[in-house]
Amino acid sequence: MTLTFPETYVDILPEVSAFLEQEHRLYIGGRWAPARSGQTFETLDPSTGKPLARISSAQSEDVDLAVSAARRTFDSGAWHHNLTPSDRSRLIWRLAELIDAHAPVLAQLDSLDNGKPVGKALKSDVPLSAEHFRYYAGWPTKIEGATIPVSTPGMLNYTVREPVGVCGLIVPWNYPLLMAAWKIAPALAAGNCIILKPAEQTPLSALYLARLFEEAGFPPGVFNVLTGFGETAGAALVEHPAVDKIGFTGSVGVAKTIVRSSAASLKRVSLELGGKSPNIVFADADLEQAVVGATWAIFGNNGQSCTAGSRLYIQRGVFDQVLEGVADETAKIRVGMGMSAHQPDLGPVVSQEQLETVMGYIHDGRGSGAETVIGGQRMGGALADGYFIEPTIFVRVQDRMKIAEEEIFGPVVCAMPFDDPAEVLQRANETPFGLAAGLWTRDLSTAHRFAARLQVGTVWINTWGDTDAASPFGGYKQSGHGREMGKDGIDLYSEVKSVWIRLG
Ligand code: NAI
Ligand code: MG
Repeated sequence: MTLTFPETYVDILPEVSAFLEQEHRLYIGGRWAPARSGQTFETLDPSTGKPLARISSAQSEDVDLAVSAARRTFDSGAWHHNLTPSDRSRLIWRLAELIDAHAPVLAQLDSLDNGKPVGKALKSDVPLSAEHFRYYAGWPTKIEGATIPVSTPGMLNYTVREPVGVCGLIVPWNYPLLMAAWKIAPALAAGNCIILKPAEQTPLSALYLARLFEEAGFPPGVFNVLTGFGETAGAALVEHPAVDKIGFTGSVGVAKTIVRSSAASLKRVSLELGGKSPNIVFADADLEQAVVGATWAIFGNNGQSCTAGSRLYIQRGVFDQVLEGVADETAKIRVGMGMSAHQPDLGPVVSQEQLETVMGYIHDGRGSGAETVIGGQRMGGALADGYFIEPTIFVRVQDRMKIAEEEIFGPVVCAMPFDDPAEVLQRANETPFGLAAGLWTRDLSTAHRFAARLQVGTVWINTWGDTDAASPFGGYKQSGHGREMGKDGIDLYSEVKSVWIRLG
């Protein structure tokens, strides 16, 4: 779990160095423009803490310009009326192909900006993003209304699904390209115009994506990118009266601010938030499978996943055995710099701020009587300049401890024993969150009973973390509103119009 290899790096592609060195602007109405105020900020490489690039910091006047551009394009019908559904499909598919063609560049940009191992970005984030666009490329020709058998005499009634309009898409830093793709693809397929606000920690792949939109030949104004901070660019987008919808992924706290400040214009809001997802191992499970599953449920992407399996409940009879297995598996995890040539499993957490938050939770856990069986330290040596934290397992955790209740969003799991199914079901549901849950069992009736009773948007049984562009994803309770992906993603980005015609 420490850096056990001499650090050597993957060569930075010439396209990536050239991109990093250029002046980064905002992408508005098909043109690149600096922020009007001239303000900029630095984005860092969390593996080294060193600056990567200077980025334009959009303020409310830039938001006004981007909203006008998107509005003009939307109202002109250049995207959803003047192009046929088949034309729109072809453009979205072309974008997917361009993402594939530029995959090595996009993977390096996300790796440098977020810290994730470049191999993971190349194998997972980037192809999943392309796949998301490919899936939604099929939709424009399939968004149908209905003919309704109304009982009003002499009337024909039918429905059509229309785009909502201008959508502000605010995304986080944990999967920079993929989280953007999750929102952009259905919004485009449904015929909307988009303003993307990437996270201030990870703006690079969003800017590169805008180039690919240009290359694909989308009408100007369909896709716009505003880099900048949440409190300025993000907030102005949410408050803007001419934005029809906000699609947001991020923290619960910011989501509540967004709901409040969207009230003035009653714009549509969909929210994909965090969780404290329970992962339950029953004694009858395939324990080998459960051990590996439980390890990666939390440590995948360094615990920086909305679905991280951060509450690990293990049936008492197998507690020691499973815990030992997970600790052994964890000890094998290789941590290294994002661009390390040694294909580490994990990189650093995303920022100094996130490092402090996670270390604060670890400190708090120890202070309240929990114990670490492995991990618990910031990593030093060759990794001392980056934001590296050892994958950490806590035991002797009480349900009401902060580390067991709050989303840590880092490589920290609480392993807790349970005795019987009714008890663990209640404990699993006793949280304001409801994003995902997992269980490991060979018993079909336990599997189905828990699938029915867990108050979450996604249940994984004998697996963890699977998502697919075709399958709906989202949260119960404070994990959010609305379902992304699949047909539900189209519904989320469209309105239904009912049309009545008097016959004769
Ligand atoms: P955040 O919620 O502040 O950031 C997410 C996005 O929202 C970013 O693009 C940010 O610029 C924007 N934003 C921030 N304040 C805004 C505002 N007032 N109006 C409009 N947009 C705004 O998340 P942050 O601070 O980066 O991370 C803090 C915690 O949030 C994490 O520790 C984790 O618990 C949670 N989180 C959850 C994510 C998820 O996938 N569900 C992703 C990122 C963070
Ligand atoms: Mg960065």
